[in-house]
Amino acid sequence: MANTLPPTYDRNGRHPLSPNVDHDEIARFNFLTNLNVHIGQRVSPGNRTAFENRVSPKYKRETGHPLETRQQVRDAMKKDPFYQCWAALRRNTMEQRQQAGRHVVLRQLDDLIESAKQHNDGKETLNIDSSAEVPPYLAAVDNHCMPGSYYTEIVPDDVLAGANYETGLFITTAGSMSSKGDGGGRSIVNFVRQRFPDFSPKRILDLGAGIGSNTLPLAEAFPDAEVVAVDAGAPMVRWGHARAQALGYDNVRFIQADGDSLDLDPNSFDWVQTTMFWHETSTSAIHGMMEKVHALMAPGGLFLNVEQPNFTPETSLFDQFTRDWDAWYNTEPFWSKLHVMDVFDVMKTAGFSSEKMFDGGTEADIERGQFQPWSSTVSRHKAESKESGDAKHNAYKGSDSTLPDGMKRVEKSDNKPWYRTSSQTDINNMTDTQKKNYIRTGNKNG
Ligand SMILES: C[S@@+](CC[C@H](N)C(=O)[O-])C[C@H]1O[C@@H](n2cnc3c(N)ncnc32)[C@H](O)[C@@H]1O
Repeated sequence: MANTLPPTYDRNGRHPLSPNVDHDEIARFNFLTNLNVHIGQRVSPGNRTAFENRVSPKYKRETGHPLETRQQVRDAMKKDPFYQCWAALRRNTMEQRQQAGRHVVLRQLDDLIESAKQHNDGKETLNIDSSAEVPPYLAAVDNHCMPGSYYTEIVPDDVLAGANYETGLFITTAGSMSSKGDGGGRSIVNFVRQRFPDFSPKRILDLGAGIGSNTLPLAEAFPDAEVVAVDAGAPMVRWGHARAQALGYDNVRFIQADGDSLDLDPNSFDWVQTTMFWHETSTSAIHGMMEKVHALMAPGGLFLNVEQPNFTPETSLFDQFTRDWDAWYNTEPFWSKLHVMDVFDVMKTAGFSSEKMFDGGTEADIERGQFQPWSSTVSRHKAESKESGDAKHNAYKGSDSTLPDGMKRVEKSDNKPWYRTSSQTDINNMTDTQKKNYIRTGNKNG
């Protein structure tokens, strides 16, 4: 078991604005992180057993035909007590994660706002637009159980949503996004470097950038580029800008705006990036914003999207049902529709040329040595680390049989084992349809 523990919260990265966390708060964060892992690894498999042994046979017995759609699976599974228990647990960890993060931030909100203001006030790299309208689909729900979602402001100059997002990301991702929560951005930089070694963007746009944690690796990789991070949530943008400045990034401009009404120079961005963005939008918004992106891109520019993979013909009914869960119980209303939407088609309608669309994937870039995602070297108790050897230069040291779900061993060129997560899947081991749906990219007609 020791090998499967995530790192403890106090190994998480800190920066000059990071909220203080006390012993009990760290313990709560660690508990919830480990509870998430436990549910994912130990409890979740029981759903498949329920489906295969009870729910599916019962449905066939009662109706005379097998389950045929993911909606039917959901309706049938909803009556199963094991599934009910699992779903309640999952929902509860998400609610608790939000409360834990907000507890930390709210008790020191005045200080956090003051520190953020010191980095924000008078800066040309921050554009807050108090007249900007929150997109209706965003205003309609508290995304992933986050009270007030990304945009609510409870006091002037509020940073609560941004600070809470950053503070609790560790729990939501069970420590798998690196100590700065920037694993997605670092991975995409690797992808670009490998695939387009001569690409040297002058202007980069990150749409739906949140607090910019995945934007900063882009700014770091291309320090001469002007990077623009856009988000609809003012508290996200304020926190993101202050955080970036505190970390020494002065080539990133943060703008509060709805991506659908962006007032930026057309044909000017060499690279438009979205990371975990489209699933937070809506069917009508995705069409409009793709068109906007196309208009903003410089001829020959690159458009990269890291997003939930679509279902493929190989995705089983049970997996479709499971992956849809967030749409129904984690306030992610668009999640389910996006799974079956042909995003290439949307891009085509927006003006991208089908011949220039392609797919890609890259391995997760997690800091080696100091913050391995699942290493015994960062386990909670020293005693659990004794098998691990040199903590600085090794990745996961457990045996392959103890690898958590969704991770697999790969050999890097330096012959050290390294591990990939399912969200950063190795493209070489994907089916063609999976590849198509993993990262959708497109060159603008030049
Ligand atoms: C899941 S977060 C991802 C943030 C960031 N890309 C990351 O990787 O951490 C999605 C973000 O999209 C933003 N968003 C949703 N709709 C938007 C819109 N129409 N225009 C701008 N931002 C939007 C939300 O405010 C939220 O911060």
